Amino acid sequence: MRLLVTGGAGFIGANFVHHWCQAYPDERVVVLDALTYAGNIENLALVERRENFRFVQGDICDRSVVDELLVTENIDTVAHFAAESHVDRSILGPAAFVQTNVVGTFTLLEAFRQYWEAQKKPSNYRFLHVSTDEVYGSLGPDDPAFCETTPYAPNSPYSASKAGSDHLVRAYYHTYKLPTIITNCSNNYGPYQFPEKLIPLMCINTLLGKPLPVYGDGKNVRDWLYVGDHCRALDVVIHHGKLGETYNIGGNNEVENINLVQILCQLMDELASDLPVSSAKHLITFVKDRPGHDQRYAINANKMKTQLGWTPLVTITEGLRLTVEWYLTHPDWWKPLLSPEYQAYYSQNYS
Ligand code: NAD
Ligand code: DAU
Repeated sequence: MRLLVTGGAGFIGANFVHHWCQAYPDERVVVLDALTYAGNIENLALVERRENFRFVQGDICDRSVVDELLVTENIDTVAHFAAESHVDRSILGPAAFVQTNVVGTFTLLEAFRQYWEAQKKPSNYRFLHVSTDEVYGSLGPDDPAFCETTPYAPNSPYSASKAGSDHLVRAYYHTYKLPTIITNCSNNYGPYQFPEKLIPLMCINTLLGKPLPVYGDGKNVRDWLYVGDHCRALDVVIHHGKLGETYNIGGNNEVENINLVQILCQLMDELASDLPVSSAKHLITFVKDRPGHDQRYAINANKMKTQLGWTPLVTITEGLRLTVEWYLTHPDWWKPLLSPEYQAYYSQNYS
């Protein structure tokens, strides 16, 4: 395969590139990433010198860049990760979310369609659209988990923009028979996740002796999946997924936020030396809730299991330990990310 990975310098994209380069060392991988605040070329340091690898800094909304890459690199598979991905930022400034997530996805689809048609519609071409469980909205405590037929009900500008992009991908399959597949995944965690997200934020704030801000009553539930398991799932979908289908991917690990933060505190107490407090849990602080905060997400990943034979391998206990250890041993990675821009966002969000 000759793969174009959009957003490959972000959290999941970079983990996916690592996975792909290790699993298929002879295959060409081209990353297109705008290097927004969330993109970091350091995330690709392990692969950037490979002969089969190329990084291009560019915007998925820029049609000429996309057109040129598809042709010059003779791409047959697009794995589309590029997005604005943080719910809190979408509440503070939704425009970038509509631009990248909706207009950017549309630009890629149009470029890929014309390229695929000009090549006489080869049957091996693929467009994988990486999406989120948040498009399904919010569950009550006793509701069944989201499955592929759950109606869309996005509640934040982020999830609405991802839902819009999913609908465009679906329409391109139905109208043009463009060879697309959509995946909707639950909350990922693991190495290279930007500090603004819950798990890295808790690890980093503990090391800095800063409050650990828990929104509302801390009883919101997320279904956590180790990022390596997500990457394996996407690999299986690219190779064996059925065109035009949607696959839900999840960890079957529902945890209340406050419980997760307490587990992280215990791990920090155990694994970190020289914490600035006697126990991380003393830093837990309940703060004003996120507006429109979805109560619960849960994924029914039976289709992935029964049709494609995928199940997660990393337990939440193993995965959280690996993740905490990674942040403890990589201060050189996360310290530069606490930039003035990040501090400004942080003050605005948490003031
Ligand atoms: P991220 O924010 O860490 O990375 C996004 C990447 O996209 C960055 O490298 C950024 O520079 C790049 N990017 C942003 N706008 C761009 C543009 N206009 N052109 C080119 N590149 C651009 O995001 P993530 O957490 O790695 O998520 C990746 C994808 O997976 C997203 O589509 C997200 O919706 C989806 N997803 C994420 C999760 C999760 O828990 N993080 C779960 C399910 C689905
Ligand atoms: O469900 C998949 C989604 O998971 C992805 O589509 C998104 O890109 C990804 O960012 C993530 O969204 P969440 O909003 O669930 O993730 P986040 O890490 O921001 O928050 C997880 C939970 O923790 C959520 O209920 C809000 C809460 N939270 C978050 C932060 C940053 C806090 O209580 N305090 C915080 O400071």
